[in-house]
Amino acid sequence: MFLIERPRRLRRTARLREMVRETSLEARGLVQPLFISERSEVEPIGSLPGISRWPVDKVAAEAERLAKLGVGGVLIFGIPEHKDEHGSQADAGSGVAQRGVKAIRDAVGDDLVIITDVCMCEYTSHGHCGILRPDGQVENDPTVDRLVSIAVSHAEAGAHVVAPSDMMDGRVGAIREGLDEAGFSETPIMSYAVKYASAFYGPFRDAAESTPAFGDRRGAQMDPGNFREALREAALDLDQGADMLMVKPAMPYLDVIKALRDNFEVPIAAYHVSGEYAMVKAAGANGWIDERAVMTESLLSIRRAGADIVISYAAAEAASWLRG
Ligand code: PBG
Repeated sequence: MFLIERPRRLRRTARLREMVRETSLEARGLVQPLFISERSEVEPIGSLPGISRWPVDKVAAEAERLAKLGVGGVLIFGIPEHKDEHGSQADAGSGVAQRGVKAIRDAVGDDLVIITDVCMCEYTSHGHCGILRPDGQVENDPTVDRLVSIAVSHAEAGAHVVAPSDMMDGRVGAIREGLDEAGFSETPIMSYAVKYASAFYGPFRDAAESTPAFGDRRGAQMDPGNFREALREAALDLDQGADMLMVKPAMPYLDVIKALRDNFEVPIAAYHVSGEYAMVKAAGANGWIDERAVMTESLLSIRRAGADIVISYAAAEAASWLRG
């Protein structure tokens, strides 16, 4: 048979395949989420095998381990003991996230990029992401004021980057202004610009004890059927001063990651969320799939779609695999 085009020619040896590989996974672009609690014990999270809640006084050692593995950064979630209607612990200087960030920064300095999740849902007794109106919906503008205060408190504690995850309108611009006024004009904002109302967040809510007591988050987060709206959200956040854009979840929304990559020049992050991770772990534990191969392929697919940064519960494990 005569064929001019034989793509298989470039797949003949491992070295040749590596040489022509277009996308790769690198530890420096991986971000490990870290849950910090006010309890004294390390608490493994049942629905996220391999992931734990870390006490404030033990989290720095974990951060040092991640830095040694070459992981690029951490994304910090505080889980307070005291929750109330107004999420008053969220911006407390002595809050769990603030103490954890300070401990990590003291331990690793600039060897990890310390990113903080800016939201209220872990801190409110009702589990919603902000101040509630009588009808149970989150009230936008008063919530934005709180988010500004939370972001500033994180920067004061030593965060390198703040990442608002609430989906309130106008919060990126308000946070930019608040940071600048507080003397943090050089602290970047990684905006959860495109965050879907997704069922893939289940294990996270378990981990953060933040499942809404009633209702859901569909009044703030995006409808999974919407694509054009993602471009609109991204453009709005850029106009307001976002330095990086995030898409969340990742694998069910690779088309959205690709669209942001093609339309905007800023770094794009994608959050491979708790449910995405838990499914691979569960199938792996059952022997139904090769866990390591599937996890690696998952993270690579997110990079190929256009994400520069991949936030994943598998970040540390993947970094150790990459070391060989
Ligand atoms: C909100 C927040 C959530 C996640 C990250 N930030 C939960 C939500 O919006 O309900 C989910 C992340 C995951 O599932 O891994 N602070």
